Amino acid sequence: MPSVDIMRHKRILLLAAGIVSFGTLWLVSGVAQPVTPTTSPGNIAILPPAGMAGDPVAQPVKMPSNPAQAALIRRGEYLAVAGDCQYCHSLPGGTPYAGGVPLQTPFGAIFSPNITPDKTYGIGSYSNAQFWNVLHRGISPGHSLLVFPHYLYPVMPWQNFNKLSRHDVMAIKAYLDSLPPAPIKSRANEMAFPFNVRAGQLALRILSPTSTKIHYGASWSPQVRNGAFLVEALAHCSACHGQRNIILMVKPKRNLAGGQILAQSWYPPDISSSKTGIGAWSPDVLFNYLHHDGALGAGAPFGPMKAVVEDSLSRLPASDVHDIVAYLQTASPKEQSAIPPATAAAPTAGGAALYYQNCARCHGAQGQGLANNFPNLAGNQALWNGPADNLISMILGGYKPWHPAQSSMPEFNQKLSDTQIAALANYVRTSWGNKAPVDVTAADVSALRPLASDWVELSTGDTQATLNGAVVDDISGTLQLFGNPDNCIVSAHLASSAGTAVDLSGACSPGGHLAGFATLAGKTVPVTLTLRMEGAAAGGSGLSGVLLSGPLGSQHETLNARIALISPTA
Ligand code: HEC
Ligand code: HEC
Ligand code: HEC
Repeated sequence: MPSVDIMRHKRILLLAAGIVSFGTLWLVSGVAQPVTPTTSPGNIAILPPAGMAGDPVAQPVKMPSNPAQAALIRRGEYLAVAGDCQYCHSLPGGTPYAGGVPLQTPFGAIFSPNITPDKTYGIGSYSNAQFWNVLHRGISPGHSLLVFPHYLYPVMPWQNFNKLSRHDVMAIKAYLDSLPPAPIKSRANEMAFPFNVRAGQLALRILSPTSTKIHYGASWSPQVRNGAFLVEALAHCSACHGQRNIILMVKPKRNLAGGQILAQSWYPPDISSSKTGIGAWSPDVLFNYLHHDGALGAGAPFGPMKAVVEDSLSRLPASDVHDIVAYLQTASPKEQSAIPPATAAAPTAGGAALYYQNCARCHGAQGQGLANNFPNLAGNQALWNGPADNLISMILGGYKPWHPAQSSMPEFNQKLSDTQIAALANYVRTSWGNKAPVDVTAADVSALRPLASDWVELSTGDTQATLNGAVVDDISGTLQLFGNPDNCIVSAHLASSAGTAVDLSGACSPGGHLAGFATLAGKTVPVTLTLRMEGAAAGGSGLSGVLLSGPLGSQHETLNARIALISPTA
């Protein structure tokens, strides 16, 4: 019952806000200097490896001729790839690092800011100390309630980045400073009161202090140490695979032990070396999963994990991913995750028949998978090691690839009822070596329906679109819906018969708007367009078209488009 939980969180938050003054204790406690191993800059893959989606890694406008400065920038680029900074700070296909990506929390949406070196809208004027404070203490320049620091919400994984050395933080700054500036205003967060008052975090931070140290084992090899550095300081695996407390901070004792991503429909499982984690996986299987997008027989990354592999891990040198594997197979959380006992009332009838009717043609009669693109469901730990959220989310939302070399999976949110999906999930979770208890109920499915995401391809179709009065005859792109039509990301290319073209990328904002950027003739401007979804019901089902209209910035271009969808949502 999420609403009750939120009420409880609100009460605790209000209580905590009352003891704000204790914060001074924390402020004077000082921040220890971390020690990190020095790894080489490493050759990262700028373009996504074959068969994977993702944007190219942003490149410096001009490399300095001074070799030491150039090496610093390359080190920063490598760290930024390992930290997946670009993925969170850029809309898909949009201006790199210009921000605008919505991150959902139970208290509202937080938008990643513009961190290009633009002096007005980006972070181009940040001093070294100010940048250090962002990455190490989660504090931006400025104030909240006049006297309190401008605390950043922990969705920005500063609780991991605070383990970086000063040299590495400055390398990231040198890399970001070398990129093209984007004169685009950051979008304001949409958090409800009192969560929008950043000062309120002060007391809460005292209640959950974070360590700036990585605890390297004395017997660890240099490889395991490098893996620990990558996992704990940069790749922020614990940001998803850890459990968060009421103020969204990761609980140190539950690092890597699995936990719900708040306000989302996914459960990143236990990835520690314990028996309930990935302790039994062979190093090769784990390496293929993390570096090559999985392999038939071991399951493949999906949901939010897919982007971690596509935008970050697959771009790192293979040796780094081997080191990550070595570390994961060493690390154990202090608290283990417990598999919940089975609920008696869970439905099972018809599960096998539903599987044969709906899934077997792609995943095989025994769940063995079909080819690399059609992963096995047999012996697939992500489906049963924890609650059924990952499996239910895939059944509800399916998968629409960003890349032509990938295959798609249909969504079943309209086709199957809550009881049918629960029976199907219980069948998959208990067959072919999957070891979950029979515990999925129709209520579990119904609770996840509003959170399931959906990808829709935009097409020219029976378009009635004009750009500056000229007919638009070529449209392509993607609309990604997160549970409801007010929460979306659009990335689209529209070209008119008169030869003008516009690239749009933006996120939905309340009141039927799309806020983002338009690029026309090489110039990017911020835009707010009127957005209407035709025929959409809650959950995004029944969507048949997208209407977008409004001015495209200072050049007085206007867009008026009814965009068709390649396959209307069921
Ligand atoms: C999971 C998504 C995510 C990742 C990964 C991420 N960020 Fe952020 N970042 C955010 C969000 C969201 C905010 C704004 C938080 C807020 O408003 O409190 C932010 C804020 C910032 C700020 C403060 C900007 C300002 O206006 O003061 C900087 C600088 C920054 N991030 C740099 C980085 C760097 C460098 C990396 C990679 C090492 C990174 N971020 C990785 C989501 C992310
Ligand atoms: C944005 C959230 C997110 C981040 C960050 C993240 N993961 Fe995941 N991960 C998930 C989700 C969700 C799943 C379940 C779906 C799947 O198996 O692909 C998952 C699954 C996995 C699995 C498969 C586990 C199993 O039992 O099948 C492994 C291994 C894994 N992640 C490792 C990592 C490592 C290592 C990192 C850091 C380098 C990482 N993840 C970072 C969300 C995340
Ligand atoms: C038309 C083919 C097709 C059908 C039918 C289909 N799937 Fe899939 N499924 C896929 C593809 C392709 C992927 C890989 C998606 C990705 O890369 O994220 C996938 C991935 C999955 C995953 C993630 C597994 C992993 O390790 O990556 C689950 C779970 C899943 N499907 C369950 C089901 C269930 C249950 C059904 C029946 C209700 C079903 N699928 C029907 C094609 C299909």
